[in-house]
Amino acid sequence: MGVMSLFLVPFMGLGPQRRRKSIGERQFLFVKLRDIFPAKETAYIRKTPPAWPHPGYTEEEMLAVTPAHRPPKTVGDWLAWKLVRMARWATDIATGIGREQQVDMKNPTTAVAAQKPLTEAQWLVRVIFLESIAGVPGMVGGMLRHLHSLRRLKRDNGWIETLLEESFNERMHLLVFSKLSEIGWFMKTMILGAQGVFFNAMFLSYLISPKITHRFVGYLEEEAVHTYTRLLREIEQGDLPKWSDPNFQIPEIAVTYWRMAEGKRTMKDLILYIRADEAVHRGVNHTLGNLNQVEDPNPFVSEYKAGAEQQKPSAVLKGTGYEREEVIG
Ligand SMILES: [Fe+2]
Ligand SMILES: [Fe+2]
Repeated sequence: MGVMSLFLVPFMGLGPQRRRKSIGERQFLFVKLRDIFPAKETAYIRKTPPAWPHPGYTEEEMLAVTPAHRPPKTVGDWLAWKLVRMARWATDIATGIGREQQVDMKNPTTAVAAQKPLTEAQWLVRVIFLESIAGVPGMVGGMLRHLHSLRRLKRDNGWIETLLEESFNERMHLLVFSKLSEIGWFMKTMILGAQGVFFNAMFLSYLISPKITHRFVGYLEEEAVHTYTRLLREIEQGDLPKWSDPNFQIPEIAVTYWRMAEGKRTMKDLILYIRADEAVHRGVNHTLGNLNQVEDPNPFVSEYKAGAEQQKPSAVLKGTGYEREEVIG
């Protein structure tokens, strides 16, 4: 038993009708597990810690994260929101989400209750695909601002590191989830194709309008917070037999990266960390989307003047982001 049997469960004891529906799952994921990226043993090196240590959260912060939605205000906001809605719709289809597994579609980003939970295999397909996409925009934005700074001989004012760190953080999410499954050829092909399309789309979109692109990422992260809130709920309700088990072994890479305390290393604890990360990305990108892209400093890494310290933003609990007047003045 243990992690090995995780993926056998969804494929055992299914009726013929259900089995037909789950073809996608079987192609996305394989049923056996092996260590897919073991640390390379070398003569001199003992270990390689992450270059960006995780800043950490208090338990209160992690528990207080909730799904939120920033209503679109401009045409650009509306465009970004509709694109994310389309992406969510396509993801629901790709994951094979049945009607009874849907949340209230009138409030798709905030409602988390559904008649039927997703299976663990559906969850894995969903989060692995989501995370492989989520690691792209920060890298593109960081890269373009870096190149802009080089060719215009201008300071960047602290945006680049936050954007690069965001994509690093997303990649850690992906690596953690890929430790929980062996990804099949079909899923690998989907990831490859999606990256080809998404990288180029982000590249063009960030050149044309970084403001709309940050808003788009803000909306994407609203979906991520929604996804992980629903996952937490299903773990807590005991809907997912393996992951609801407090003895389920989460990957070592997760324990190291988030410096997870002994006795606080269940799947629920892990998802609480990941959800808080998504909430930070949501707050940061919605805020950056409100700023002057050329002149404004990154408020999340800035020191504030004496007397103005209370203006310093904290992204994790600010679901709709800060308005420019609140943080820049
Ligand atoms: Fe993520
Ligand atoms: Fe994210």
